[in-house]
Amino acid sequence: MQNSAATNMPTDIESEIETVMHNKSETLASCNLTQEQLDSHWMPYTANREFKENPRMLVSAKGNYFTDSAGRQIFDSLSGLWTTGAGHSRPEISEAVSKQISNLDYSPGFQFSHPMSFELAHRISEFMPAGLNRVMFTTSGSEAVETSLKVARAYWRKVGQPSKTRFIGRAKGYHGVNWGGISVGGIGANKMMWGQALETSHLQHTAIPENKFCKGMPTEGAHLINELEDQIALYDASTIAAVIVEPMSGSGGVIPPPVGYLQRLREVCTKHNILLIFDEVITAFGRVGSNTGAEEFGVTPDLMCIAKQVTNGTIPMGGMIAKQEIYDTFMENGGHEYMMEIPHGNTYSAHPVACAASLAALNILEDDQLVARSKAMAPFLEEKVHQLKGTQYVSDIRNYGLAAGITLESAPGEPALRPYQVAMKCWEKGFYVRHGGDVISMGLPFTVEKEEIDNVINAIGESIRELS
Ligand SMILES: Cc1ncc(COP(=O)(O)O)c(C=O)c1O
Repeated sequence: MQNSAATNMPTDIESEIETVMHNKSETLASCNLTQEQLDSHWMPYTANREFKENPRMLVSAKGNYFTDSAGRQIFDSLSGLWTTGAGHSRPEISEAVSKQISNLDYSPGFQFSHPMSFELAHRISEFMPAGLNRVMFTTSGSEAVETSLKVARAYWRKVGQPSKTRFIGRAKGYHGVNWGGISVGGIGANKMMWGQALETSHLQHTAIPENKFCKGMPTEGAHLINELEDQIALYDASTIAAVIVEPMSGSGGVIPPPVGYLQRLREVCTKHNILLIFDEVITAFGRVGSNTGAEEFGVTPDLMCIAKQVTNGTIPMGGMIAKQEIYDTFMENGGHEYMMEIPHGNTYSAHPVACAASLAALNILEDDQLVARSKAMAPFLEEKVHQLKGTQYVSDIRNYGLAAGITLESAPGEPALRPYQVAMKCWEKGFYVRHGGDVISMGLPFTVEKEEIDNVINAIGESIRELS
């Protein structure tokens, strides 16, 4: 590298670059990777250019911690990607997976199956509110969402109302990366490169100014459902297939529903004969302190999407769960008995290894009473995270269950900059925290200890205070 006199580069920036380059070569050496190998992977939802200058490599995980390539212990404050609430590398899951892969490594899921797919479907329905009991498996949350949208449209065709094709999503909603999901999704940055694929409209989000720094469910906002009535007046219920929302927005910044909001939503959907889909890819299996958001908030949808925690993140799996009457409608209108009732599915649906992982993961949730633990630790997280109120740049804090979102005031023209800087400072301090848009998010493992909550909140606070 040339010296700063020759490049006119300020000495502090030059030395920062030198440190990064030094760390990068150390990281590559410790991972036994070449630059060419680093370049080969086009990473998803990642600033590739930044990452490849400053690679953050995780090489193993146990309990609530990753180990990075330098051998540091990194606290996992997002349970992976909202996936691993029971903690990492649970031996019960490894054993179930390794037994399964050496016994039945793959089984076709079309026209044939294996016993565990039925056992698991039934087991999942035990975690669901009454009536939601017909499970179709997918391999991701995005596919679960697409499945629910397709089932909603097909259902209306089956009952003789084919004009019901429109979907209503919500601003700040995240529903994965496929065409349907990005159409009903409400995060602008995730939509703008692709344009619209489905006829959709969106409700306003509920992170309204009145709800700033609200602890748990805000009291203001149920009235926002009036907007749904307006959209029904505009488009007519005869054109609307379904409304899809996350009961608590996750990727949009952890936005719990206002008191009464989901009840109003349910009432309006029922009144106008519109299906209600809950995308519970984040909230199902313990995140909000109950088996599902539906149970926690007391509202049952017609269709639900799940993924992530269903296998504790170990093997990709998702699913769509339908009310029995929706399933029955397909069966009763399925034509000849030898014919399939819905032409839909994936090569890896109900993959036997994923089923084994999921059965083991759900057993852990139950045996270790992790859903109850998630609920029990929530007040401590609430107390601690709200202590960041008053810290420079913190413009809002939200929490529910073992999830919290901290919004930072935007740097001029760069809303995502400060959360990124905070996450990088936390990484340096030994904490993995999620940054996305103007928010820092946490989705703590259900196995978290109070001291760990204290430590991560302190690290976030310190990192925010270090910002210039
Ligand atoms: C609510 C919600 N829906 C869908 C998805 C997409 O799931 P996947 O990344 O498994 O496709 C996510 C992922 O974070 C999610 O949070």
